[in-house]
Amino acid sequence: MTGTKIDGIEVAKNVKSQVKEIVDDLKSKGVNPCLATILVGDNPASATYVRNKHKACDEVGILTKDHTPAANITQNELNELIQKLNDDDSVHGILVQLPLPKHLNEFNTTTQILPEKDVDGLTPPNVGLLAIGKAMLVACTPSGIIEMCRYYNIDLEGKNVAVINRSNLVGKPLYHLLIQNNATVTTCHSRTKDLKKICLDSDIIITGVGNREIFKLTPDMIKEGAIVIDVATTRHEGKLSGDADYPEIIEKASFASPVPGGVGPMTVAMLLKNTVTAAALTKGIDIKS
Ligand SMILES: NC(=O)c1ccc[n+]([C@@H]2O[C@H](COP(=O)([O-])OP(=O)(O)OC[C@H]3O[C@@H](n4cnc5c(N)ncnc54)[C@H](OP(=O)(O)O)[C@@H]3O)[C@@H](O)[C@H]2O)c1
Repeated sequence: MTGTKIDGIEVAKNVKSQVKEIVDDLKSKGVNPCLATILVGDNPASATYVRNKHKACDEVGILTKDHTPAANITQNELNELIQKLNDDDSVHGILVQLPLPKHLNEFNTTTQILPEKDVDGLTPPNVGLLAIGKAMLVACTPSGIIEMCRYYNIDLEGKNVAVINRSNLVGKPLYHLLIQNNATVTTCHSRTKDLKKICLDSDIIITGVGNREIFKLTPDMIKEGAIVIDVATTRHEGKLSGDADYPEIIEKASFASPVPGGVGPMTVAMLLKNTVTAAALTKGIDIKS
């Protein structure tokens, strides 16, 4: 069988049009949603990510404030910048682009962000709220994956889902979202035994290793008709790719997401959604549904 492509560009477009309507509505109520980004230093990949996020904000009418401190900024100076943005009522979301230069501590930095402005959903209060099913701002990549499933009517209830990743950014928040959607989740990682067997037993495989030298999800690892969502982004044979080769995996899967054009665009779209959610909350409006 050849399955259906999970088209992240199409789903992201749909999310963006919903976000645009919310932006227009908020503006009519006197709220001008605004995202502040902090890009430390001159990492070209990070600069591209931030540029894409600004472009996406422009498309839906979200204002952006761009902060680009030099790579030698101290931890104290960076914390002060975040505090300034925390205190600025015109800023609704704060995003610190990771990774940071080695002398800066990512945990100490992201935890400076007020939870209600934490549009990446990485601060301990937001992580805790997610764990008890009460989160307003959830990490963008995992929530984007859930949104993709919703768009393609992929029912998660009762499904066996293997998540090959246990990072704070991807696998851990995804676990909570999946169980909240009544899936049965197996979280896999580099020490997991019998990964192939777990994958073969799974209805849905969400993979995010990102190193083709050590891991590739191949068709013999999935059952006929399984659903494969590929989170990974890595360079392989000179091009951007995921953990799987989409053309071969889609021959056996019922649904699969490609790289590029899968999860990536969803991450940006959910950042926009989190920004308008944060902006709406300042007026006591809950737009989450
Ligand atoms: N498209 C997007 O928007 C987006 C967003 C976020 C991340 N990503 C991509 O997703 C990938 C993961 O990102 P991350 O930040 O979560 O990276 P990470 O922290 O390095 O996580 C990689 C995960 O893969 C596991 N792993 C490594 N080798 C394995 C193996 N042989 N078998 C099974 N599991 C193995 C690791 O296990 P251990 O925990 O045991 O080390 C870890 O849990 C990267 O390619 C990244 O670029 C994409």
